[in-house]
Amino acid sequence: MRLRSLLFVPGDSEKKFVRACTSGADVLILDLEDAVAPSMKDAARALVAGWIDRADEVSPALFVRVNPLDTGLTEGDLAAVVRPGLAGILAPKVNGTQDVAALAALLDRLEADASMAAGSVRIMIVATETPLAMFHLGSYTPPHPRLVAMTWGAEDLAAALGATANKEADGAWTFPYQVARAQCLFAAGAAEVFPVDTLYADFRDTAGLETDCRRARRDGFLGRIAIHPDQVETINRCFSPSDEDIAEARKIAAAFAAQPELGTIGIDGKMYDIPHLKAAHKVLAAAGDRA
Ligand code: COA
Ligand code: MG
Repeated sequence: MRLRSLLFVPGDSEKKFVRACTSGADVLILDLEDAVAPSMKDAARALVAGWIDRADEVSPALFVRVNPLDTGLTEGDLAAVVRPGLAGILAPKVNGTQDVAALAALLDRLEADASMAAGSVRIMIVATETPLAMFHLGSYTPPHPRLVAMTWGAEDLAAALGATANKEADGAWTFPYQVARAQCLFAAGAAEVFPVDTLYADFRDTAGLETDCRRARRDGFLGRIAIHPDQVETINRCFSPSDEDIAEARKIAAAFAAQPELGTIGIDGKMYDIPHLKAAHKVLAAAGDRA
């Protein structure tokens, strides 16, 4: 499953679902949480269930963002959407691996009820939405077998803290949210799950999105949340290895393969050692068919 671009679709908008299907996103996150007004939650469950039944006809993988465990809505959300075609859930406001285990236990039962393969519904989490969550980021290692990816969020965390802003005047995250971003990256790295950067809210600012995606890729994120179809192309491009990246990775992998007894190699006057080889293998894996 590719997880470069994950486009949010409000669970109560048929029009947006149809449009999102041809956006080029790897994953659609069908939202039952904050994009849906309380009065529309039931209608959204039914609509999203119908979309999942059409999963075979659409190319993106379908994930559902359920409501958080403390709302009392999670089990009903899952009962509506755990059906053939559902690839995964996005769990918001998790406070540690015990929340992943609680969701997994619900999935165990609902998958069986729906005659789905045990363990087939994967879990992605928003790992930094509560102050408490920030102290449990190490708890996801070793990872639950269903856990595939982690992202982070600054809005709910800022609201929980009563912060008056989470960005500087120039748009950069203030320090507490830089910490959340970095800690999510480290937590995903430790658990060896996919690190996904948070959304870029200004969906008309394509140049700003591109700069920010390059920074995210540089730091180690491998994909990004989108909130508008117009963001998908930029995200896919920035999180796919370039032709130059692939050529360089091929050169490094070939040099080590030719001299398996060496841990350090010089190529074109530069030193390469095992971390470079690992990075090259990651680039080639991300390149897929293009490698
Ligand atoms: N998925 C699918 N289609 C979308 C979309 C999305 N996330 N966001 C916008 N579109 C569609 C619009 O419906 C519109 O379609 P139309 O031309 O047929 O009317 C078209 O793209 C252009 O949209 P635009 O006018 O640029 O934006 P908007 O003002 O209609 O919508 C948002 C702005 C923010 C409300 C919308 O992008 C959105 O709903 N994003 C997702 C929000 C969400 O799920 N948040 C939860 C996670 S933070
Ligand atoms: Mg939120």
